[in-house]
Amino acid sequence: MNEPHIWWYITRASALIAWALMTLSVVWGILLSTRVMRRIDNPAWLQDLHRYLGGMTLVMVALHMVTLMLDGWLQFSLAETLVPFATDFKALPVALGILAFYLLVAVQGSSLMMNRLPRRFWKGLHYSSYAALVLVSMHAGWTGTDVSAWWYRVLAIVLISVATISVIVRIITSTRTPSRPAIAAATKKPVVTSSATTPVATRPTSRTMVVARVEPAAEGVLSIRLLPLGGGQLPVWQPGAHITLHLPSGLERQYSLCGDPAERTHFDIAVLKTANSEGGSEWIHSSMSPGMTLEVTGPLNHFELEPASEYLFIAGGIGITPIKAMIESLPERRQWKLMYAGRSQATMAFRDELVERYPERVVTYASDEATQPLDIYAAVAGSTAQVYCCGPESLMSAVASFVPAERMHCERFVPLVRESRAPAEDITVNCRKSKKSFVVPAEGNILESLEQNGLPVLGSCRKGVCGSCEVRVVEGHPVHLDSVMDDAEKEKLRIMYPCVSRAEGTQLTLDI
Ligand code: FES
Repeated sequence: MNEPHIWWYITRASALIAWALMTLSVVWGILLSTRVMRRIDNPAWLQDLHRYLGGMTLVMVALHMVTLMLDGWLQFSLAETLVPFATDFKALPVALGILAFYLLVAVQGSSLMMNRLPRRFWKGLHYSSYAALVLVSMHAGWTGTDVSAWWYRVLAIVLISVATISVIVRIITSTRTPSRPAIAAATKKPVVTSSATTPVATRPTSRTMVVARVEPAAEGVLSIRLLPLGGGQLPVWQPGAHITLHLPSGLERQYSLCGDPAERTHFDIAVLKTANSEGGSEWIHSSMSPGMTLEVTGPLNHFELEPASEYLFIAGGIGITPIKAMIESLPERRQWKLMYAGRSQATMAFRDELVERYPERVVTYASDEATQPLDIYAAVAGSTAQVYCCGPESLMSAVASFVPAERMHCERFVPLVRESRAPAEDITVNCRKSKKSFVVPAEGNILESLEQNGLPVLGSCRKGVCGSCEVRVVEGHPVHLDSVMDDAEKEKLRIMYPCVSRAEGTQLTLDI
């Protein structure tokens, strides 16, 4: 090379690019975790972009370090480049940069192995990217050759401001909105109406929709398309979401959306006619026809598809509906497999379509043809994929017995049978925001008492599966009897589902 200090220029340029990429990566990660771009995002490509930015940051940092050693001016040795305080040249700021490099390696490495690591450990490690960005900013501001140049100062102000604002948004968002855990629940439950609002969950919007299509999807299953009355775009929804149909009888029924989340002009659902129908699926199968209008609320989502590099979907019967939407949302290169079981091929909605579109990825099991019982262990053994399961309780319990909790995500159709271990006694419920207090008798129901006292809370399934009655707990010890999400998550989020849950002790304070 003719330019004697080409390495010096490269080391400076790569450092600046690494700083900018790292800031972008952190900002993108914040957008991903807070979902502030929910209206346009897609978890898969957002995750990919975040990861690419992180990977490119590391490449630029490596280039910065290598060219620092190649450059003749500073003559950094390998030890001075990799070991904090090994150099006499601006020892502390250089050490900060080296520490940031190791944090970056840990964050990137753990992201590559995220499917093999406990979710909480991975998340904890991931948070150190904030520390790495602070260290990099200090390193850049302290050691940069160009720190006195106006353009460098402008760049530094922009990068630090963007990062600071993003972190503030992240902090505010995380204190306001409890993140939805993935182990969650609920579709398709008989319900009684409530018109109140809930302070914790986002209140689902209601709209009039027209039944555009009703056609068989399988034996005993109808595929239904709903269009907004008057046309227009529907709200953005993520796979795993469900809507609530308000039937003419006054009943409400919740159904998972099973179409492509990218299609915003209609909602697709599939409804199984249940043998023990309380009037919902029976009415839909016997009376619903194109041209009818219905009130529809939602979508709401308690079964979100978290970003991951590999998925294993397991569906039983009508449990295919949310899983199908998940599959529709994934980019072509995403690794996934579906194991789909049913009573017979004829009863398995979307079976033929899925097998035809994804012959390499879809395995089906029809029990009326099988000579062996379904081997759940064989399906999950050796897999490190995130497992999303929806179907009968027996199927989900079997899958959960082989899959670590941090990789297991399921959606329930029916509530778990849970007995309260707390003694049956009167509970004084204090409502912090409304400043109301009342006693819920030992045999009473907290949700009903909230409603009777005029408090703004939704109630839909009233069986502890749909999640609509969620309230935040300020003080007291809830006894969780719902099936919406696992108890540890509820404790972490300090929430409860008062349609079925009780409390230990005689006092409970709710944030309502
Ligand atoms: S009303 Fe459905 S969980 Fe409480």
